This record gives sequence, C-alpha cells and structure tokens, in this order.
Amino acid sequence: PQALPCHFVIFGATGDLAALKLLPALYRLDVGGHLPAGMSIIALGRRPWSEADWLQHLEESIRRRTGEQFNARVYRRFAARFAYVAGDLHDPAIYQTLSDRLCADQSCAHAAFYLSLKPSDFGEVIQRLEQAGLNRPRGLHRIVVEKPFGEDIDSARQLNRLLHDAFDEEQIYRIDHYLGKETVQNLLVFRFANTLIEPLWNRNYIDHVQISVAEQAGVSTRADYYDKAGALRDMLQNHLLQLLTLVAMEPPPALEADALRDEKVKVLRSIRPIEDQVINAHAFRAQYGPGSIDGVPVPGYQDEAGVAPHSIAETFVAAKFYVDNWRWRGVPFYLRTGKRLAQQLSLVAIRFRHPPQQLFRETPLEFIEPNWVLLSLQPSESMHIELHSKQPGLGMDTRIIRLDASYRRGREKTLEAYETLLLDIMEGDRSLFLRFDEVEWAWRVVDPILRHWTRQRDFIHTYPAGSWGPLEADRLFDKLEQSWRNQL
Ligand code: BG6
Repeated sequence: PQALPCHFVIFGATGDLAALKLLPALYRLDVGGHLPAGMSIIALGRRPWSEADWLQHLEESIRRRTGEQFNARVYRRFAARFAYVAGDLHDPAIYQTLSDRLCADQSCAHAAFYLSLKPSDFGEVIQRLEQAGLNRPRGLHRIVVEKPFGEDIDSARQLNRLLHDAFDEEQIYRIDHYLGKETVQNLLVFRFANTLIEPLWNRNYIDHVQISVAEQAGVSTRADYYDKAGALRDMLQNHLLQLLTLVAMEPPPALEADALRDEKVKVLRSIRPIEDQVINAHAFRAQYGPGSIDGVPVPGYQDEAGVAPHSIAETFVAAKFYVDNWRWRGVPFYLRTGKRLAQQLSLVAIRFRHPPQQLFRETPLEFIEPNWVLLSLQPSESMHIELHSKQPGLGMDTRIIRLDASYRRGREKTLEAYETLLLDIMEGDRSLFLRFDEVEWAWRVVDPILRHWTRQRDFIHTYPAGSWGPLEADRLFDKLEQSWRNQL
C-alpha cells in the first residue's frame, strides 16, 4: 500500500511525546523518502508561539534526536511541510481554523488527527472534532489515540463510545507503540516460521515466562500525567500485556489485522481473573526513592517536579498471570516494569523445564541451570538460547553454552516503532493497532489490581533508584528456584 498524501494533524505538538518520538519519526520517514510529496503537517499546541518559534523548537527536537545524522537538505523540505496553530484545546475557534485549513486545500481531502494528549483531554477533543464536522469529511479522516486508552474499564468504554459516536471503527487507530517494534513483531516470526520452536512452546516444556521492561529513566517532565497513571496503567496494561499475548497466542489463520487480533483477544480472555483476597500474591507495586544511576545521584520520585506530596503512584510493578487454556494452564507469566532501575533492559525470557532425569552431575535437578530462550528488545535487539553442552575433558560434566544472534546484520537499518506505525496510519493499515475488545480485556485483567490498590491509599514500598526494585517483588514466584532474570 501507498502512503496517501494527507494532512497530518498533531494535537499536543509541543509536548514530550511529539518532541521525543513523533517529530523525529516523521523526519526519518522523510529522510527515507516515505512521506508523500503533498503531505502537510499541522502542529497544534498550547504555547502562544509564532511560526518562527515553532520552527526553532522543531529544529532543536530533530537535531537532538538525530545528532550527526542531521541532514540539512531533507530538513528544509521537512520543515516546509509544517504549519503551527497555537490555541487552547477547549476553544472551538481552533477547530474552525483547522477545518478552514483542511477545506482550503482542494488537492487533498485526507487527514489524520493524532491525539498526543493527556488521556483526560481525549473526550473533549473528539467531541469538538465532531462538532466542527471534521469526523465526516470529503476524504478519508483517521483519528489516532495514544495509550493509555482510559484509566480503567469503565472510562475506556466511555471513551470508546465517544469515539464511535463521532468516527467509524475503520477511522480509529488505537496505538500501542510496542507493536511497532521490530523485535516484537519478530516474536511472531520466531514462533510461527520455525518448526524447531513451536512444538516446545507450551506447558509441557516451559516452566515459566518472564517479561521485563526496565528503564533507567525517571519520570522526567511527565509527572503531571504519570502521577495519576502509575506504571500499571502506563506500561503493564498495554505494552507488557501485548507482549504476553504475542508470546502466548495461537497461530492465526492469516497475517491479517482481525485474524491477529482475534488470537490476541483469546489469550487475554483466558487470563485467570485475580481474586481480591490474593492480589498481594499476584501483584506488587513500589516507588523509587533517591539513589544513583551509573554513579550519578538522582532524586527520589517524591522529589521530582510535578509529583503530588505523599504520592503513592507506583513506578515499579510486578505481576503474575496464568493463561488458563490448553497450551498454558499452570505456567506462570511474570511481568515487571519499572523506572529508575539498574539498567535499561527489555526482555522476554522463557525458562524451560528440567529434563526428567539428571544423568550428568550429582547436583539435584532443581539446582541445575535450565534452558532459556531470551528475546531482547532493548538495549539491543537480539535472540539467545542457553543450552547444556559437555565440558571438554575427562568426565561428563556439562556447562551452559549460548547461541547468540543479533537481530540486525551489520549496519542493516530498521524502522523505529513510531516510524512503522505512522506509516501504517498513512497507508491505512490497522494490523498493528488495537481493536477495542483487546483494550477492554486488558483492562479486565488489571482492574482487580487497580481496585485493590485504590482502596489502599496509604502505603507503598520503595526501592533505591538504580537498583533492580525491591526484593519483596520475589514473593510472586511460585517456586524457590525461580528468580528474575536481570541480564541477557
Ligand atoms: C511509553 C510510556 O508508552 O513507553 C513511558 O508512557 C515509557 O513511560 C515508554 O518510558 C517506553 O518506551 P520505549 O519504547 O522507550 O521502551
């Protein structure tokens, strides 16, 4: 499919997400020749900036993210695509300005509205777009909604109703940028293009699955949003559960949007609901205190700008889920994510069962290293398999050998998550976007935890910034021999 020329409208263009991800991704798409010639970008922001102020901000954002790769010639073409509209989202006038601009261009009737906003602003913007007639246009208009989609199951349903009042499902793109990551998509290839792997991918051979997304970064300038969301809503309900679905799903009949989503929904529906009395055995939350990252002292969460006094927003969450279906019954899926952890590491780690008999050492089986399959997303994209092999020499002792494969060969380039997804939006391909039932089932999975935590508003564990989180998170493990895998 071809990217249609369109007006790409960014709500929240002066915000963090735009500066860090969206604008650099659009720029890189332009460098790669992926943006259609007639495509314009309308940046909407609260700041009362002139066109010149905006262009200065744009150039700084792009230079910061591209470093030496900055290409002045492409940048001129890229910057010329932009118009900046300053205004308050609550003011109907900016929707009129937007409508006038879109209608004035007779050559292009297509548009994509990207809501890079606080979730609390989504509803109003959707309604105002509708009131301005921007939902039922001459051409194809799409709306892109960033996560988290709602703040619990009820608000997600309400947001979805609002969206559907104004837009058709075909116009709606619910984004989870993890699905744009190459290695996340590679999970499907790894599982379904190799006969070697798939027969072992079940409860008969797998002891447990770990999905970790550890960040070194703190809350940065996003406390306004993060303090209300916390790690469970910010990361686990979406990115980590999406990873879980890709690890656990059955092969789809075809690589088509709905076929894939059907299989993902089946996994989410199979996750055993967590009863309120046992929440503490299934979920754990904590917040970072002061500490240091790579030897540099950093403040605790409570001292970050914009965090409410005595906030108990979690910056670390660990949870255990069971997928109660034929393939996975009894296999724990341990998920954890946190900010200000010791290393940046995103890892899907599959631990295999022990062989039924230990022939090669005196050691009891449970103390022998098992086989692992490790799929790393960050900091590097790579795959590793750990196997036993004979120690050279006399005797029959074994040792672990690793099969390591980097995902890229040499200087091979891949698209970054947001590049892939922005291109999909322009091409009208919704395979890597969420259907509402996925979002809804994912909320259903985490809702018992959220409800439980909302009732316990007075205490949260802490961990020093730069550590691997509190040891208490280990209480989730079913067996003594299970522990978090903190390195590749
Ligand atoms: C975002 C979260 O969705 O994902 C952030 O809101 C988080 O809090 C980010 O830092 C992590 O994304 P990535 O691609 O850097 O792993």
